[in-house]
Amino acid sequence: MNSFFLTTPIYYVNARPHLGHAYSTIVADSLVRFHKMLGDDTFFLTGTDEHGDKIVQAAERQGCPPQKFVDEISARFQSLWPQLGIAHDRFIRTTEPGHKRVVQAFLQRVHDAGDIYFGEFGGHYCYGCERFYTEKELENGLCPQHKTRPEFINEKNYFFRMSKYLPWLKSYVEEHEDFIRPRRYRAEALAMLESGALEDLCISRPKTRLQWGIELPFDDNYVCYVWFDALINYISALGWPDDRNFARYWPGEHLVAKDILKPHAVFWPAMLKSAGLPVYRHLNVHGYWLVRDTKMSKSLGNIIEPVEMSRRFGLNAFRYFLLREMRFGEDASFSEDALINRINADLANDLGNLFSRVLSMTAKYFESRVPEPSAFLQTDDAIAELCLHSLQNFVQLFGGTQFDAALESLWETVRALNKYVDSQAPWALYKQGSTARLATVMYVLLTAMRKTALCLWPVMPDASRQMLEQLGSPAAETVPPVPALRKEGNSFDGLSPGTVVASSSTLFPRIEMKRDAAPKTRRGQ
Ligand code: MSP
Repeated sequence: MNSFFLTTPIYYVNARPHLGHAYSTIVADSLVRFHKMLGDDTFFLTGTDEHGDKIVQAAERQGCPPQKFVDEISARFQSLWPQLGIAHDRFIRTTEPGHKRVVQAFLQRVHDAGDIYFGEFGGHYCYGCERFYTEKELENGLCPQHKTRPEFINEKNYFFRMSKYLPWLKSYVEEHEDFIRPRRYRAEALAMLESGALEDLCISRPKTRLQWGIELPFDDNYVCYVWFDALINYISALGWPDDRNFARYWPGEHLVAKDILKPHAVFWPAMLKSAGLPVYRHLNVHGYWLVRDTKMSKSLGNIIEPVEMSRRFGLNAFRYFLLREMRFGEDASFSEDALINRINADLANDLGNLFSRVLSMTAKYFESRVPEPSAFLQTDDAIAELCLHSLQNFVQLFGGTQFDAALESLWETVRALNKYVDSQAPWALYKQGSTARLATVMYVLLTAMRKTALCLWPVMPDASRQMLEQLGSPAAETVPPVPALRKEGNSFDGLSPGTVVASSSTLFPRIEMKRDAAPKTRRGQ
C-alpha cells in the first residue's frame, strides 16, 4: 500500500481564516480523499503557527496575553474546518509541548552536525514577513510583499549554515523535475538558487527582543526563529524521531501558495538535509485568489468569508467552484457572479439536470430499476468509451494537481450524456414500444452517471454520496466509497440490472440572481 502524507501551511493566528486559507485546505482535503479512493494509506495534516513577533503584536493590540490570544484564534481555525467538509487526521499547534521538544531535538542535531554558528548580523527586518531582507531584495527601500519600511536591526544571533547545502539543493531540483511543481515555481526556485543572493539563515532571536518562541537547547538567552520552528511541524506532527507514523508517512508532500515558496523550496530541504533526513516528495504551489484583481486584505475590506459563501451557495458547490475555477499554480479572481455562473451552468444545468431527467425516466419506464441492457450499438460504445477515457484522464490529471482540467474532463462526459439523451430520445423509444433499445439507453446513462458521481467524491463528498445513493448504492457502501478508482476506468460496468434507484433528484437548484439583491437558492446543497 502506498502512503500519502499531505500538509497545508500552518496558518498564522494573527487573523481570521479567509478564502485563501480555505482554498489551500479544501484542495488538500480533496487530494487526500482522492488518494484514499486510490487505496493509499493517507495522512492529512493542518494546523496553526503560533510563535513570533507578528503574533505578539496582534495579541498586544487586543490587550490579550499571547497564550490566551493564540488559543482563541487557533480554536477558530479548528472549528472552521469541519464546516467546510475538511477531514484532517491531525491539527498541530506550534505551542504544543510535543512540538517544542521536537524543534529542540532538531536544533540540537543540526548544531551537533556543526551547521549552527554564532555571529553578528545587521539586516532589514520586516515584521509582516517575519524575516530579514537584504538591501538588494527591497523595492525602493520597502518590503516587496507588504510595501512597508523594514526596521534595521543589528544584533548577535545564531545562524544555520544554509549556504553549505545550496549546491546540493540546486542539483537536486534540477534532477527531480516534479520536486517543485507546477514548473513555473520550480523555475523560480532555481532562479533563487542561482542568484547568489541566498545566505546563511539567521535562526534565533534574543530574548531581550522576543520571548514568545521556543528556547534554543544550547543557549537559553535565545528563542528559535519562527520559520525554523514552523517548518518542523511537518515532522513533529508525525512524532519524529521515534513514532512509527514518521516511518510510515515520511517523506510526504506539501501544499502552499506562492507567498511562501522560499522557506519551503530552500530553507526546509536544507534543514532536512542537515539533519540527515530525506526531503519531501513534492512541493505543490498554487497562486492567489484575487478580488477585483487585487489580493484580499483587511484594509481594503475585500476579505471573502468561506463559511458565509458555503452557507449561501452550498458547501459542495463552493468546493467545486474553487477547484474548477482556479488553474492550479496561477492566480484566479473570485466573484459571486463567477460562482453563480458555474453553479448554474455546470451543476444545475449539466449535472443536476442529467440526474433529474434520467432518474425520472427510469421511474416512468422501468419502475426505478436499472434495466438489463441488450447489445450495444456504435453510439452506446462511443459513450462508454468516452466515459472510461474521461475517468482515466480525471485520475491522471487530478493526481497531478490539474484540478480544473480533471473536472473539465469529467464534464465532457456529463455534457455528452445530456446530448445522448436528446439524440436517443428515450420518450420516443417508449412510445414506439422499443423496450430493448430503451433498456440499453437507460443502462448506459445510469452506468456512466455512477462512475461520474464516484469521481466527484473528493471534491463534493456529500453531493457524491447523495448521487451514489440515488443510484442505488446502500449508504454503507458509499461511505467511504469503494477505494478502487483506477479499476473503474477499465470496464463499463458497476451497476447491476435490477438495482432500485431514486425516482427523482434535485441536487443543485439554479440560483436566480436578481440585480442588487441577495441571490436565492431554492434548497442548500
Ligand atoms: N505561518 C506561515 C506558514 C508556515 S508553514 C510551515 C504562513 N501563514 S499564513 O497564515 O500567512 O498563510 C499563508 C497561506 O495561506 C498561503 O501560502 C496560502 O496557502 C493561504 N493563502 C493566504 N492568502 C491567500 C490568497 N489570497 N489566495 C490563495 N491562498 C492564500 O504563511
